Amino acid sequence: MQKFKISDRFKRSEKYNLKWMKSNEMGPNSLWLTEFLTERIDLEPGMKVLDLGCGKAMSSIFLAKEFGVQVWATDLWISPSENLRNINEQEIAELVFPVYAEAHSLPYAENFFDVIISIDAYHYFGTDEIYLPYILKFLKKGGTIGIVSPGLRNEISNEILNCFKDFWEPEFFSFHTEKWWREHWEKTGLVEILVSDILQDGWKIWYEWEKELIETNSVNEERGSDIGLLEADGGKYLCFPRLIAKKK
Ligand SMILES: C[S@@+](CC[C@H](N)C(=O)[O-])C[C@H]1O[C@@H](n2cnc3c(N)ncnc32)[C@H](O)[C@@H]1O
Repeated sequence: MQKFKISDRFKRSEKYNLKWMKSNEMGPNSLWLTEFLTERIDLEPGMKVLDLGCGKAMSSIFLAKEFGVQVWATDLWISPSENLRNINEQEIAELVFPVYAEAHSLPYAENFFDVIISIDAYHYFGTDEIYLPYILKFLKKGGTIGIVSPGLRNEISNEILNCFKDFWEPEFFSFHTEKWWREHWEKTGLVEILVSDILQDGWKIWYEWEKELIETNSVNEERGSDIGLLEADGGKYLCFPRLIAKKK
């Protein structure tokens, strides 16, 4: 397969150290996904941003460095002390604040944030009907919420389950289509959908990242590699839905 030119696609991410990206990765490259998301969100210096499920805070650091926004880097699995070390090393502590919190029990004031983003995390807690009304409480009226998560081009069927049978994990039932996410948010009547699409060449981009990790012995042992899943798919179903909406 021809080498896909990631650098042409993600010009902002290209500036960041590849070793740093590999040692902080927790799935499909979060800088690339954050760049994809923020291409369609207006971010101005000084804005308050919630980065929900930030993992090792690479997306938060990227947001602060690229746009001068203040970011509350919020996560459950990664400790705020570990994230603070990373934030300090990146010399951006005046703009990125690490917070330990569970997504259903957030320690923030209502109407506090201008923007809420979530990269490869929202599907862990946001598929039920009551989550969007909850999270929107923390967003100002007219503020923006945006997510990118792994998803599918078709809703789950026996065909899809059969395609992935050797690699399927129960948590993949949280993968949905861009259309599913749009309807999931739209029906609440609480938001106006601004963007609903998928990352073009998403499968290839994800595959290139996993190959790079394998070829450079950088696979995180705890997480393992997604290469089997991606090869079983062959570019048929896996994709990255992107949803951006404005709070009414
Ligand atoms: C696959 S990791 C992605 C992390 C990071 N956004 C990235 O792309 O590297 C999913 C993240 O979602 C967070 N998460 C999952 N369930 C959560 C919950 N209930 N509350 C807060 N964070 C949660 C985890 O802590 C984890 O860091």
